[in-house]
Amino acid sequence: MRDFAIIVLAAGQGTRMRSSLPKVMHKAGGRSLIGHVLAAAGELAPQRTVVVTAPGMEDAASEARRFMTDASIAIQEKRQGTAHAVSTAKPALLGFNGTILVLYGDVPLISAETMKMLAESVTVATPLAVLAFKAADPTGYGRLILKSGRLTAIREELDATATERKIDLCNSGFIAADSDLLWRLLPRIRNNNAKGEYYLTDLVELAVEEKIAVAHTICAEAEVHGVNTRGQLAGIEALLQAKYRNAALEGGATLIAPETVFFSADTKLGSDVVIEPHVVFGPEVTVGDNATILAFSHIEGATIAEGARVGPFARLRPGAQIGEDVHIGNFVEVKKAVIEKGAKANHLAYIGDARIGAKSNIGAGTITCNYDGFEKHTTDIGRDVFVGSNAALVAPVKIGDGANIAAGSVITRDVPPDALAIARGQQAVREGWSTRYRAMKRNRAKGE
Ligand code: UD1
Ligand code: MG
Repeated sequence: MRDFAIIVLAAGQGTRMRSSLPKVMHKAGGRSLIGHVLAAAGELAPQRTVVVTAPGMEDAASEARRFMTDASIAIQEKRQGTAHAVSTAKPALLGFNGTILVLYGDVPLISAETMKMLAESVTVATPLAVLAFKAADPTGYGRLILKSGRLTAIREELDATATERKIDLCNSGFIAADSDLLWRLLPRIRNNNAKGEYYLTDLVELAVEEKIAVAHTICAEAEVHGVNTRGQLAGIEALLQAKYRNAALEGGATLIAPETVFFSADTKLGSDVVIEPHVVFGPEVTVGDNATILAFSHIEGATIAEGARVGPFARLRPGAQIGEDVHIGNFVEVKKAVIEKGAKANHLAYIGDARIGAKSNIGAGTITCNYDGFEKHTTDIGRDVFVGSNAALVAPVKIGDGANIAAGSVITRDVPPDALAIARGQQAVREGWSTRYRAMKRNRAKGE
């Protein structure tokens, strides 16, 4: 393939989203829309990437750099149309010669293969190429005007005649062009149209006037669905989830009710993983072979090693590292903690900023008290430790290997290996007290 660069247009405000967040920062499949586009583009390793944003979109710029570390950011001061947006990327592409691919930041389902196909349509004979699709409902899209099979113009809906509006071959908005041609024709685009904007699509007519052939390639409509509304965002989410569920099944995971499991774009599953109904995977989760995730668990930023059992109703938060054969049971929350091989926390516990050594057992109701209102502190529990039910471990605190913590203890000081720590009120027993108490109450009731 020729050298190629990518421009991603992302300056749109997305008014119809009714949101304070820029449109391209909205998420589907646990990943921002711009993240999806750049992740796919990244597979092709472009020589250069420029993301066009609007003033005040610093978060979108850093999100873009998370997916494409060497991306340049261009700022379009005022929204004046897609051609104007592309021209703002020019300074960042000085000295680049080859194919330039223009993508939209709000069209997240585009695949790397389709991008490649479009980029490869740019040749010496056809230095400009348009990605088109057959629309089930063409309303709102630019239409491709063909004469004897050759593309002669793209007409925006607002500028189209009634006959032209009947055409169902539509512009995806993605184009690829030879860099020399693009920079030569771009300044000749005028804004004498219904919207008063500089339309990138006018490149086609300008090229045709010079007898330059314009290629068009066709992709599936599903790849070029754009996001303008929250409804469309939900539609994209559904398409992505269907894809991720399929990939999980094909990769060798058992999903008992696939339609109830939600993945992120980067969820990694080993083989023979079993996932029960109603499980949500947030970003950055890896699950090892033969692990089981039981119903109603919520997992993000966690690694789960081979053979572990998580849930039902478990919550794993960022930094949870669940070791081999570990059991994390119902209503257990784990955050930034390493749980070593074979350890168990089966019921109702909070483990945060901690290490739990191999084979240790954390009783029901155990809490690592990691926060003092200002700072976080760590709890270090050795191997083969038994923590009785309802223990409060006030961090920073260290519990040595093989120690026992009595139920109901509030542990504020380190416990040496193999010791018993008990820190709770003494039990008092008064023989016959309950009988006397009931008799007294009954007598009073009679007297009333
Ligand atoms: C555009 C195409 C249309 C195509 C449709 C596909 C043009 C003139 N029209 O129309 O043929 O069928 O996409 O969805 O290109 N943007 C900027 N700066 C601007 C204007 C737009 O960055 O000044 C960005 C937007 O954020 C968006 C993309 O460019 O990501 C497309 O802009 P949009 O206004 O949605 O174009 P459409 O009217 O949908
Ligand atoms: Mg649009």
